Amino acid sequence: MKIAVFSSKPYDQKFLTAANRSFGYELKFFEPRLTAETVGLAAGFPVVCGFVNDRLDAAVLEALAEGDTRVIALRCAGFNNVDLATAERLGLKVVRVPAYSPYSVAEHTVALMMALNRKTHRAHARVREGNFALNGLLGFDLHGRTVGVVGTGQIGIAVARIMKGFGCRLLGFDPYPNEDCKSLDMEYLSIDDLLSRSDVVTLHCPLTPQTRHLINVDSVQRMKRGAMLINTSRGAVIDTQAVIDAMKSGQIGYLGLDVYEEEADYFFEDLSHEVITDDTLARLLTFPNVVITGHQAFFTQEALQSIAETTLQSIHDIEHSGTSGNELDMKQIMP
Ligand code: NAI
Repeated sequence: MKIAVFSSKPYDQKFLTAANRSFGYELKFFEPRLTAETVGLAAGFPVVCGFVNDRLDAAVLEALAEGDTRVIALRCAGFNNVDLATAERLGLKVVRVPAYSPYSVAEHTVALMMALNRKTHRAHARVREGNFALNGLLGFDLHGRTVGVVGTGQIGIAVARIMKGFGCRLLGFDPYPNEDCKSLDMEYLSIDDLLSRSDVVTLHCPLTPQTRHLINVDSVQRMKRGAMLINTSRGAVIDTQAVIDAMKSGQIGYLGLDVYEEEADYFFEDLSHEVITDDTLARLLTFPNVVITGHQAFFTQEALQSIAETTLQSIHDIEHSGTSGNELDMKQIMP
């Protein structure tokens, strides 16, 4: 069976090709993102494999269905980029990788916290210039600080466990509290109380209509002055302009981002020879107390191997039994 793999990079090719030794599918790797402009490439492929910034909106899904695609296999956990109602209407099955390595994202989240706190990014640049001065590099002990985890699913609890090891107090906000987090002495609160009591706020909820701009003009004002905000979930969970304003006023003291609302045109590409025309992104890059990575939190060997194997296994399950445990259950998602 033929599978069209969009947004494919050398690392996708490497891990999918290795995993495919057990399946024997015909993988066709396309470098472009899947959009209305590129969807023609998928014509005649029963399966299309997409990633976080592929645009699976109604127009693209309709074109895919017309081109005889039957299955969309997302090689990621989030599925906010798929119009699920249209997929269901067209009879397209959508699978994702609900869990691969929560440790990959959790460990990167903590790396952002550590870099921001101890200013490792600045220290590294200084030392390479022969500047060994410490002025401006003062950090704080994480031990004894309060970390607020928004979304306490697989990644949120993995972060909580690491921060528990640091000696932090844990607060949580989640409409479905996680019993395992309670056994870490996490205290569940309303979002407002979590924001007002946390030294570090870290976001691990999915992007949904309820979480879009969860961190906004009003909610940043509820945060402790000078607190740290980390977002490794999806860019639009924060209103970036509101956060920039809060950085300028000192209301937010540190910002770590692995995701950005308008990342699709930038992330995963080498644009080092080009002018950044997105003024919001350009502004973010000027702050000394902001660390941005380009959606790399998932990017470990273990995660890529697991993503590749799970994606192909889900396709195999649908091919042979008509269903997969990783199929998005539209009824649960759209009650
Ligand atoms: P999960 O499904 O295990 O956990 C998500 C948690 O968020 C659940 O406990 C859910 O109840 C909670 N939640 C739902 N609505 C909420 C709301 N309105 N407010 C607060 N919490 C809410 O998902 P997992 O695996 O922990 O992943 C979380 C998110 O991380 C994904 O949806 C994805 O967007 C992002 N992600 C980012 C990656 C990266 O490389 N930066 C890689 C993988 C995932």
